[in-house]
Amino acid sequence: MADTSHGPASFWTQADALLRKNLTFQKRNIKTNIRLIAFPFVLCLLLVLIQALVNHELDKPENKCGCSCVDTNGDGKCEKVCGLEFSDFDQAPTCPITSPPEWPPLLQIPNPDQRAVISDIIPYKDLPNESCKKTGSCPVTLLLTGNNKSLGGILAGNMFTSSFILNSSSTLDELTNSVLGSESMPQQNNFLDPAFYSGLPIYNVQRQCTQNSTFSVQVPVASTEVQEEVRCVQALNLWRNSSAEVNNQLYKGYRKGNSERKINEILAAYDFLNSNQNNFNMSIWYNSTFKNDSGNTAIGLLRVPRSVNLVSNAYLQFLKGPGTKMLFDFVKEMPKPGTETRLDFSSLLGPLFFSWVIIQLFPVVLASLVYEKQQRLRIMMKMHGLGDGPYWMISYAYFFTISSIYMLCFVAFGSAIGLKFFTLNDYSIQFVFYFIYINLQIALAFLAAAFFSNVKTATVVGYICVFGTGLLGGFLFEFFVEDTSFPRGWIIVFELYPGFSLHRGLYEFAQYSFTGDYLGTDGMRWRDLNDSKNGMKEVLIIMTVEWLLVLFVAYYVDQVVASGSGKSPLFFLQRFKKKRSSFRMPSLQRQESKAFVQTDKPDVCQEREKVEQLLLESNTSHSIICDDLKKVYPGRDGNPSKFAVRGLSLALPRGECFGMLGPNGAGKTSFISMMIGLTKPTSGTAFIQGLDIQTYMDEIYTSMGVCPQHDLLWDTLTGREHLLFYGRLKNLKGHSLTKAVEESLKGVNLFHGGVADKQAGKYSGGMKRRLSVAISLIGDPKVVYMDEPSTGLDPASRNSLWNVVKRAKQDRAIILTTHSMEEAEILCDRLGIFVDGSLQCIGNPKELKGRYGGSYVFTMTTSANHEEDVVNLVKGLSANANKIYHLSGTQKFELPKHEVRIADVFQAVENAKSRFTVFAWGLADTTLEDVFIKVARGAQAFNILS
Ligand SMILES: *[C@@H]1O[C@H](CO)[C@@H](O)[C@H](O)[C@H]1NC(C)=O
Ligand SMILES: *[C@@H]1O[C@H](CO)[C@@H](O)[C@H](O)[C@H]1NC(C)=O
Ligand SMILES: *[C@@H]1O[C@H](CO)[C@@H](O)[C@H](O)[C@H]1NC(C)=O
Ligand SMILES: *[C@@H]1O[C@H](CO)[C@@H](O)[C@H](O)[C@H]1NC(C)=O
Ligand SMILES: *[C@@H]1O[C@H](CO)[C@@H](O)[C@H](O)[C@H]1NC(C)=O
Repeated sequence: MADTSHGPASFWTQADALLRKNLTFQKRNIKTNIRLIAFPFVLCLLLVLIQALVNHELDKPENKCGCSCVDTNGDGKCEKVCGLEFSDFDQAPTCPITSPPEWPPLLQIPNPDQRAVISDIIPYKDLPNESCKKTGSCPVTLLLTGNNKSLGGILAGNMFTSSFILNSSSTLDELTNSVLGSESMPQQNNFLDPAFYSGLPIYNVQRQCTQNSTFSVQVPVASTEVQEEVRCVQALNLWRNSSAEVNNQLYKGYRKGNSERKINEILAAYDFLNSNQNNFNMSIWYNSTFKNDSGNTAIGLLRVPRSVNLVSNAYLQFLKGPGTKMLFDFVKEMPKPGTETRLDFSSLLGPLFFSWVIIQLFPVVLASLVYEKQQRLRIMMKMHGLGDGPYWMISYAYFFTISSIYMLCFVAFGSAIGLKFFTLNDYSIQFVFYFIYINLQIALAFLAAAFFSNVKTATVVGYICVFGTGLLGGFLFEFFVEDTSFPRGWIIVFELYPGFSLHRGLYEFAQYSFTGDYLGTDGMRWRDLNDSKNGMKEVLIIMTVEWLLVLFVAYYVDQVVASGSGKSPLFFLQRFKKKRSSFRMPSLQRQESKAFVQTDKPDVCQEREKVEQLLLESNTSHSIICDDLKKVYPGRDGNPSKFAVRGLSLALPRGECFGMLGPNGAGKTSFISMMIGLTKPTSGTAFIQGLDIQTYMDEIYTSMGVCPQHDLLWDTLTGREHLLFYGRLKNLKGHSLTKAVEESLKGVNLFHGGVADKQAGKYSGGMKRRLSVAISLIGDPKVVYMDEPSTGLDPASRNSLWNVVKRAKQDRAIILTTHSMEEAEILCDRLGIFVDGSLQCIGNPKELKGRYGGSYVFTMTTSANHEEDVVNLVKGLSANANKIYHLSGTQKFELPKHEVRIADVFQAVENAKSRFTVFAWGLADTTLEDVFIKVARGAQAFNILS
């Protein structure tokens, strides 16, 4: 340990030390890690399971194109042939359709009970009476308007025929000569028209219906023939004075409240505008609101073409006479290849599940950062020389590695089990996206860690974020994204929250993989980033910018708030200032503030003078020089300011152990905090090895050791690992490291019996204490602070600890606080009694005892009526004797040593015994404890008076 050849540890040495420590720590946490990684695995398996069930359902024959065994080439054997002609209605959609069926064009007929009738809200008396709803025989209404009413009348008359030319032997082909309609909902394609197989009647729209106007026809649909009822419905052409009136009626007739009764649907409305013989100009109102039965807004085809043909035909007949016809034979869908019905569940549930999986890392990183803060391990590491640079680099790289491994497992596993979400989208886009996001997430965790000091709170808040973000993303944000009318600008604002940008990215992947799977095409490719609907590009930009920004802010906040260095918010300006005043002993700057004369004791004054003298010399053998150090906590809520340390001056040469005694709350801890850089002095400063604590704290840390009052240890690391880590931080390497660790383990009696390799969490209080002391001494620090090192130790361990300290103090300066006078007496070369923020006395234990306890304590117990005799006896021994204690016959006196001889005392007592009964008596030299009590009491009394 006496090897002093090593300098402060380099950046990489520190980084290496931290990395090794983290890896060991990680190894101990293997169970947690397995649990962590298991989560996405379980989730992926769950998705696969659901997917398998869905696929099983979809692969049933009724969901596939129908097949049959047909002898196609006439060799007597049949081959399996699939196609529309062998399929039923459920199977048909997936069939390859090379030549789509032709369907008669249809009008969209309102449901019988929703057709326009007279009602209180619609005043037109030309509408049919409501009673028709009961029989279901309401006519369908067409509204007409235009500049020329007589022309309108003619056109209306040409639209529908009144003669009933069809009969029960008619076929579908013949039906096309009349105006057909259906109230069924059209579908997204027209390979099968629901009008012809849904069981609803086919309407034959006519000017007038006769009694026996209902019959049925055979319609070939897919592989079957369907018997469809053809029912006559009357078309009612009503003239309105202007398009405003048409609008008005349509508007009033629209669904009012929930009352279905009020619905007032019309077939269509025509405005002929300025049409005349030479010019046909018109506009049509039609109903474009179609929802299919399940309530989804899947838009179906519109049955509009027939209504256009209807009026065009009427106009042609008006021009050319009734013999002319413009036929509209059929509508027909485009041919299509066979498709497979596929529903990719990983894409449907992906954004929600996967955002949970990914954000789950956030609380993990956060908790681990806050743990080091809560246990004050960060500060402890800093005090042993770990710079912010290596800390940040290694912690960041460490969490990044963990996150990367996690994401890699996740994507690899998801791909391996064939989730389309992963396999269809370009892996390079996924890589970039996840890379940026985990970086952003780690930066965020660093930022958030600055605001938590408790692991539990941080974890709870972290998990609330996980679930809240997932749910809000899935059930709120996604709706906004899908709602095309929602302003895109606001979507961007939403995406500024990283959870939502993650969700958006996953959502886009899901969209592409879902359609890719459904249509049998690729997922997202780089070129797709330019799609107007693809939000991936914005998300990537937002996240990258945020990452850099958050990283910067996190570092800044960490420097100001969290790292314990107590830097001011403008710390980066100080670097500039520091450069200018880089001479190390600014001895001339401190002329002011010496004006007030304190009621200092001579020894304290002497120390102060010594400090002033030392500051003038530049070369000093003194390790610690405190120059008028002050700490004032500003008053709050009307309380006066608290003076924790009032101008402390102290000089410690190398090789000295200075004991700091003082009652609780005297300011010892405030003093130590300033010295180890936890708080800034209000005024004054201190020099450690010639370096100012105000500016050179980082350098000072490399030659400093601290044994804090409370043990700051990692529960899962062993004693040896602790020492190895701190030894590396102190730039010990290779053989000298193992040697130093071994020696210090032996020194604190932790070497034998495998104790060194037990986790520190399982240590007893005393063992932890000894480990803390060993840590503070490893790597040969020049200055060591020990805050009550032996509290809670049994006498044997305490003795061995004292031996360690005694050995250690030879080459360094130690400041030690303690409540044990015995310890102070044994370990310390000098003592200072610290009361109410200032030193009351300073000197070696003997001197102090001599100065403050220059007296014997004489105690005598008699019966109450002889008390006066005892007082007289003492007065006889020494005129300056002083009664310090008196209780029912027992009295204590202080006798100045130079006035009494012990033999005289014995003599006097013998005499007294012959005169009255002495129950007990005693004579004692003053102990340090007496000194302490006396000094403390005296100082406090003084402070109360002043
Ligand atoms: C209205 O139309 C009829 C029929 O075409 C025509 O005879 C008449 O002149 C038109 N009236 C006006 C004002 O244009
Ligand atoms: C039905 O109509 C067809 C032609 O459309 C005609 O040949 C046949 O005679 C009609 N049958 C009856 C019973 O009116
Ligand atoms: C429409 O015009 C006719 C004739 O000009 C008039 O009698 C009728 O009241 C008008 N209808 C409305 C609802 O204004
Ligand atoms: C349009 O059609 C839908 C579906 O049949 C219906 O619910 C709605 O009321 C219709 N709207 C009008 C204005 O007729
Ligand atoms: C058709 O009517 C609209 C609206 O009145 C008018 O703006 C347009 O010029 C007309 N077109 C013709 C060819 O008359």
